[in-house]
Amino acid sequence: MPSSDRSSIWPQQETIVKILLTEQELQVGIERLAKQLSVDFGERPITMVAIMTGSLVLLADLIRRLEMPIRVSLFQASSYRGGTESGQIEVNDSAMLDIKDRDCLLVDDIFDTGKTLTRVSERLLSMKPASLKSIVLLYKEGRQEFPLEPDYFIFKIPDQFVVGYGLDYQDLYRNLPYVGVMEQADLDAHHLAHPPA
Ligand code: IMP
Ligand code: MG
Repeated sequence: MPSSDRSSIWPQQETIVKILLTEQELQVGIERLAKQLSVDFGERPITMVAIMTGSLVLLADLIRRLEMPIRVSLFQASSYRGGTESGQIEVNDSAMLDIKDRDCLLVDDIFDTGKTLTRVSERLLSMKPASLKSIVLLYKEGRQEFPLEPDYFIFKIPDQFVVGYGLDYQDLYRNLPYVGVMEQADLDAHHLAHPPA
């Protein structure tokens, strides 16, 4: 595809993302969580239910640090449709394993209003797991609108829009190895280059 055509579907590469959590900080945090899970679960088998797509990088790094038997189940849930506002949740559980009578750990990238974790937890509880706990990489402060809290979070962050390490903006930036902040000017520039459909 000629580069002039490509620029209409790919953002300008110079969009600036300011680093909030470095690769090393992320790895230290994940190691800390893995140790905590090893203490809390011991050798009990765990079924990880990863909310796609944002949690996939965390999932890959976390499960390789755990030694108990692990099953991985995927659950698609999206609350953000293209932008940064939390909308309705769409779910797809066609890649779910049977979790009846299993100890489950729900994994998500970020806890924002809490809607996703609340709705997905309700759905999983109806599948009658033996237990259900939740993990998030990031806990965004001051945004919560639902009473459910994650059982584990790795980092608390201020109320800013972040990308990288699995988190996206309009399905981009998930592959950044760090977590970075996109400021309003970056988001606006992105929109100018790529008007929403
Ligand atoms: P909640 O349902 O409002 O808690 O939002 C959780 C979901 O919104 C996460 O799984 C993310 O996909 C998305 N989200 C919330 N905040 C951010 C952010 O700062 N960057 C990228 N995605 C976010
Ligand atoms: Mg997400």
